[in-house]
Amino acid sequence: MGGSIVVIGSLNMDFVLAVDRLPLPGETILGHGFRVIPGGKGANQAYAAAKLAGSGPGHGTAVRMLGRVGADSFGVALKANLAGVGVDISGVLETESEATGVACIHVDAAGQNSITVAPGANGALSAGDIDSERWAIAGARCVLLQLEVPIEAVAAGLREAQRVGATSILDPAPARALPKEILQLVDIATPNENEACVLVGMPPSRVSADDATALGNKIRELGVRSVIVKLGDQGCVYCGPDRTFATPAFAMRAVDSTAAGDTFNAALAVSLAEGAEMEEALRFANAAAAISVTRAGAQTSAPARAEVDALLARIRA
Ligand code: RIB
Repeated sequence: MGGSIVVIGSLNMDFVLAVDRLPLPGETILGHGFRVIPGGKGANQAYAAAKLAGSGPGHGTAVRMLGRVGADSFGVALKANLAGVGVDISGVLETESEATGVACIHVDAAGQNSITVAPGANGALSAGDIDSERWAIAGARCVLLQLEVPIEAVAAGLREAQRVGATSILDPAPARALPKEILQLVDIATPNENEACVLVGMPPSRVSADDATALGNKIRELGVRSVIVKLGDQGCVYCGPDRTFATPAFAMRAVDSTAAGDTFNAALAVSLAEGAEMEEALRFANAAAAISVTRAGAQTSAPARAEVDALLARIRA
């Protein structure tokens, strides 16, 4: 039985098109297989965490989502999808003046994507909204955050998590530089390679595992307690206060990498909330993310707990 997880972040409806290759600037290309799929980095993390934990009364770790949607049908559908897996959505508020956030996503034949987000109501999430939820954060073991909502709301969530001793896990996505005052509040940051570069003031680029360790340590010097650099099919690198180590990825045939990072963070939080050590939590997170890339879409790709346990058991056998 784990403690609860609070997710502070975005809810988007994703408009997804499959393409042979991602379009170049100024180019029109033909796509196919248009789908409308529940997404948003925050909602994806809440949805995946609930599926992995068996959320809801009488089950394992409870998951609560804090965010904002518009007063429209996308908002209703996004909330219903989260509630369907047991996420407590009473902290998802409505903004009358803005539409629910949307994302336009191209997915190419290799499963790589490009994403453009129109935040809409996500942009109205305020520090005051987070203050009203102090009671929920007070009971949380982990607080999950990303950067698709205003930085004031992220900072308020981090401050509150630190005040009550909950472990904060920040996915610094979309990539942006962050002030030291915010980084110093973060227990665990989980950048991918591009986001890690941007956090230390470098242009985004692909990096080796050795470079990722150096980047992780540089981010630690900015004040983050532990850093996990996510390297996609190369696994991840952990840089903590007293050690660094790499955890390999599971080799899978990738269909769509959308939300793999969100699933990774959700699984990491579930495992840590259940009391796992970091090595075990990272294996669990890598396994969950590996399964998610074999399926299309954001929330549609989140694995069930039994699937992750089965993959881990197969690897051990
Ligand atoms: O991380 C994937 C998510 O990024 C998508 O679901 C999209 O909504 C954007 O938030």
